[in-house]
Amino acid sequence: MNKLSKRLAKVASYVEENSRIIDIGCDHGLLSIYLAKKYPKIKIIASDINRNALDNAINNIKINHLEDRIETRLGSGLDVVKAKEIDTVVISGMGANTIVGILKYSLDKLKYVNNIIIQSNTDLYFLRKNITKIGYYISDESLVRDGGIIYTIIKFSKGNKKYNYEELYLGPILIKNSSRLFKEKIDKEINTIEMILSRIKKGHLFYKLKLKKKLKILKKRSN
Ligand SMILES: C[S@@+](CC[C@H](N)C(=O)[O-])C[C@H]1O[C@@H](n2cnc3c(N)ncnc32)[C@H](O)[C@@H]1O
Repeated sequence: MNKLSKRLAKVASYVEENSRIIDIGCDHGLLSIYLAKKYPKIKIIASDINRNALDNAINNIKINHLEDRIETRLGSGLDVVKAKEIDTVVISGMGANTIVGILKYSLDKLKYVNNIIIQSNTDLYFLRKNITKIGYYISDESLVRDGGIIYTIIKFSKGNKKYNYEELYLGPILIKNSSRLFKEKIDKEINTIEMILSRIKKGHLFYKLKLKKKLKILKKRSN
């Protein structure tokens, strides 16, 4: 059985002890297994849209003798649960579009959900903007380096807070903490955007303006 990666360990650290969670897109089931072992009272539904992935999870759960602690369900997003079954949603390792789609498509299933824990590395502005729009605020977030990649993990909790563009783009708590990893992530992003800008020749005015706006914000935080 594989050891939990640093990325998933950070995701796990945001899950509360006596919660009732759905681990959407559980794949191998490693996160759910770790949480079941750590917290004897936690209730876990591990789900996946892919039969093979879910079979991997079922197999790993059996190896760890946790069949009576982790329920597995096949299906998409929150389709597989009733609102009253969960108070925490965990979605890790998916793109921002898919994550936002899953949540927005099933707002009724979020009725009792106090925490949404997300690990995604694509379009975090879009992710933060959309999840804070549906009645959650950013209660914690962190960066972790794993296998040479810097991952962002965000905990959203029920409640409302207003954020400006910069906070939605870079993360209000990450900005405040301004860690070494944060600076490194910013410098990487500056390089990527400068490379893209240098390769766009004519046209794409709106796209270029958007990139320049981002670049200005990044450079301000890079010093
Ligand atoms: C890259 S894996 C991430 C696995 C694990 N959560 C992690 O962070 O290591 C993404 C998983 O999400 C599943 N998935 C993708 N879209 C889904 C959806 N709409 N509902 C449930 N599972 C989904 C895929 O089948 C796949 O197993």
